[in-house]
Formats: sequence, C-alpha cells, structure tokens
Amino acid sequence: MLKETILQLLREKDAYVSGQDLCERLGVTRTAVWKAVGKLKEEGYDIRAVRNRGYRLFGEADVLNAEELASEMKGNPLIPETEFYKRLDSTNQAAKEGAEKGKSMPRLYVADEQTAGRGRRGRTWVSPPGTGIWMSVLLKPQLSSDKAAMLTLVAALAVAEGIRRETGLSAGIKWPNDIVIGGRKVCGILTEMSADMDGIRYVVVGIGINANTETFPAEIRKTATSLRMETGRVLKRSALIGAVMREFAGFYESFVREESLKGLREQYEALLVNRGRAVTVLDPAGEYTGTAEGITDTGELLVRTENNTVRKILSGEVSVRGIYGYI
Ligand code: BTN
Repeated sequence: MLKETILQLLREKDAYVSGQDLCERLGVTRTAVWKAVGKLKEEGYDIRAVRNRGYRLFGEADVLNAEELASEMKGNPLIPETEFYKRLDSTNQAAKEGAEKGKSMPRLYVADEQTAGRGRRGRTWVSPPGTGIWMSVLLKPQLSSDKAAMLTLVAALAVAEGIRRETGLSAGIKWPNDIVIGGRKVCGILTEMSADMDGIRYVVVGIGINANTETFPAEIRKTATSLRMETGRVLKRSALIGAVMREFAGFYESFVREESLKGLREQYEALLVNRGRAVTVLDPAGEYTGTAEGITDTGELLVRTENNTVRKILSGEVSVRGIYGYI
C-alpha cells in the first residue's frame, strides 16, 4: 500500500524527503502522495510538509493501527493472524465470537478502546481510547481442559518480561496474574475457556495493560499505575504488544511441550512479588495467613502456614492478599 511505503521511506530518513523524490520512487502523482500523507496524519503520525523541502516524520507517535501491529507481529512464530479494531465491546468477547464462527487459531485481537471491557470476578475494566493495550489471544492448545488455567501464568510472565524489555521497569507478578510495578497494578489478565469431552475447544487470554493512562478513577487511584506514570514518557503501544507477544510465543512453546510450567517456574518465581511475604488466603472454607514461598509446576501458590505446613493454592478458587495491603 502506498501509505505504508511512504511511511517506511520517511522513517528511513531523519530529514525532509522531497515530494518529487517520493513520486519518482513510487511511480505515483504528487496528489497521490499528498493524499496518502493526509491519511497518515489522520492516523496520528506527526508528518510535516514544508514548501520546497518536502515531507518529514517527527518523533514516533503512539499510533496503534493494523499496519503497525502487522509489522510488529511479522516473524512471530505463534500468531499468524491479528485483528485490530478502533472500538470493540470487549476483545475477549470478539475472540470468543471469532472462535465460535470457526476462525483459525491462534489469533490476536486488539482494540484501541473497549466499551464493555471485563475484569475478573465480574468487574468492569475501564478501557478508554488512545491509552491502554486491550488485547486477547485466542488459542487452541491440544491439552486437557484442567491445564488451561496455567496459561494465565504464562501470559503474566510474558507481560512482565515484555515490559521489562521495552521500558526497563522492574515489573513483577502478584500471583497468579497481576503485573505490578512499585506495588501498584499495571496489568490484569482474564482467561476464559470453552471445553467439551474432547478437551479444550478454545482459550481466550485477555490482557489489559495501562500503558499511557494519565489518571485513574478515584476508587483505583491508590492501587493502579501506568507505564507512562512510571517512566514519565509516552510509550509506543504497538512496540510493547510486539515485545509481549514475542515473549509469549516462547513461553507458550515451553508450556505446550511440557504440559506444565516446569520450564518457566524459575523465571516466574524470580518475578513473584509475593515471595517471602505474608499473605492472607481468602479461602471460602476459612481465611488463613501464611508466607508465600513460590509456585508448583502446575501454577499453584505454595503457602507455608503458621503451623508450618505448606498448602497449595489453586488460582480461581481463592484470592490472596498481602496482610498489609494489595501485595
Ligand atoms: C483483571 O480483572 O485483573 C483482568 C482484567 C482483564 C482486562 C482485559 S482488557 C482485554 C481483555 N478484554 C476484556 O474485556 N478484558 C480483558
């Protein structure tokens, strides 16, 4: 497409490129170049035109669109198909509908805005446009359905590593799947599954990352943060999606091969912020406290209780809180 080629040529040069030059290289008219540049500007690229000098791309804005995503996902061994939407009710919902319609899997759904973003435990997930990463990975692992819950931990590891790689921030994991920076939540994950007698029909791993969020609603202001708040810089969301999905592809391969978190456990535990901390386990059968020690190969949290026995906690069944706060 003309638009993409122009973008690529402007990116290659940190200077003005003459309109004449672009026309000759691309074999199109000046009007065609001008129109394509207009579209790129509408998408948010800061391209400036100066008479007698031509066009120049300034900075790299946080533009999230299908082309940026396609270029980030190029070469990703896991995700051959990506769908991008300006606005969706929920990427998890779209992924489920895609699976039900028989779309090929794996597939990644990304939206700039969600109007009915969903969180865990029936909560809503605030997903305004132009700020966050709202995406869902649709997968069909050839595994028995009891293994699907581990995918949440695989995704948490991928997000934490992707953030570390892309921003240098030391992101950690609050078991099983919240990503935290400096004690505040920056990402949540919602995994949903459909299974039958033959096993998993599909799994949707929904990931919400507060990337460029500048303010949060009052009720979560004390416990939430964004990458922008932590670094003071605007982050290019497509680049982070690329980084997270590259990590995810590698970890997913290990998970499917081992049918467990065996190959990932050490790396996960190294990022586990609950480790060595006192936690309260909100078990419906009775609340208790203990010290989080790590995870098992199947993703349960190991908690040493006050009478020195180690209990294994299955995600989804109970929730875990720090005794002094969120972690
Ligand atoms: C949580 O409560 O911590 C989980 C939040 C998950 C939010 C993401 S955003 C993309 C995907 N689509 C949704 O509707 N929810 C998940």
